[in-house]
Amino acid sequence: ETTLRAAAAKAGLFFGVAASPGRLTSIVGQEFNQLTPENDMKPSTIATSSGALQNTGNADTLVNYAQTNNMSVRGHTLVWHSQAGALQGASQATLNTFIGNALNRWGNRIAYWDVVNEALDDNNTGNRRTQWPHTLNRDANGDGDFFDTGDTDVIRDSFIRAKQVVQASGLTTKLCINDYDVEGLTVQGGVQNRKANALYDIVRNYRQYIDCVGFQGHFNDNPNSIITNDLQANIQRFADLGVEVHITELDIDDDLSNNDIGAGQAENYRKVVRACLNVAKCTGITVWGISDSESWRSSERGLLFTGGNGSYQRKAAYNAVLDELNQG
Ligand code: G3I
Repeated sequence: ETTLRAAAAKAGLFFGVAASPGRLTSIVGQEFNQLTPENDMKPSTIATSSGALQNTGNADTLVNYAQTNNMSVRGHTLVWHSQAGALQGASQATLNTFIGNALNRWGNRIAYWDVVNEALDDNNTGNRRTQWPHTLNRDANGDGDFFDTGDTDVIRDSFIRAKQVVQASGLTTKLCINDYDVEGLTVQGGVQNRKANALYDIVRNYRQYIDCVGFQGHFNDNPNSIITNDLQANIQRFADLGVEVHITELDIDDDLSNNDIGAGQAENYRKVVRACLNVAKCTGITVWGISDSESWRSSERGLLFTGGNGSYQRKAAYNAVLDELNQG
């Protein structure tokens, strides 16, 4: 096959891209069969303080484009500490209102929703972030059961609400939890990845409400990086819990300090694709933008194309991904 989407489809995957309305040139529909709004479905854009929807125009543009081009959509994102906008510090009840409104607004036009994004702390502690303290009393009586009366957890309760809405409205939309630095079993130096372990525990405990796990995949181009080591094994252990796994925001820093002019980056892309292909329940990969110059980390040249404004050139990384997908 000669496009990413055709090669991926043949291998049983989706291959997607994050975009804004201003980036919807023909390459998007030609190369990709899944679309994630990079910013236009974030609470800061679409939520009012009561959990009602507002400013959905850009989101609609993206959803309509996806439908026209036979692409699935990943909604991004409902509950997030950053870009929370009017929902900053909101009660669980208000978050629940917003979750219901957003899920019902687009219904089955959204295949996957990131219900909860980046809920875990940095620094490999395995702790929750502190931004939703009023919504966390996970195991009030300390008996290890998170479902007792009085137990509250913004992660659990948001998924319970989302699942209720999906069932009540007869939707097929799948409900995902998404995070970064959770991709490997270990982090550099061979240290246990406590953040990944914490995510694993969340999915294991609440899996009746969670359909899918997103590993963001904002990687660096380091020969010792987790890409080379245990990405596939980590994908596999989540898959073994019964959830789908996706690489949701892939970009790989091209570290020119090793003078390999993109070759190391291309090999790392190949490894990510291979890890996903090797696990049946890893069902798709999304790159976080089209071209280096249009990326949130543009100085790191992490994407598959150079160029801009609709005029793009394929990089070695593009060829590696296409080739690996074609190998199935
Ligand atoms: O559109 C406005 C523009 O009108 C204004 O003049 C300009 C001045 O600051 O800002 C523009 O908005 C920026 C927006 O990107 C669009 O370019 C925001 O400031 C900027 O904060 C925003 O950054 C986004 C970032 O999330 C915000 O947290 C990036 O585009 C987006 O790629 C990034 O995506 C996140 C995922 O949602 C979650 N995972 C990590 C990932 C990378 O940080």
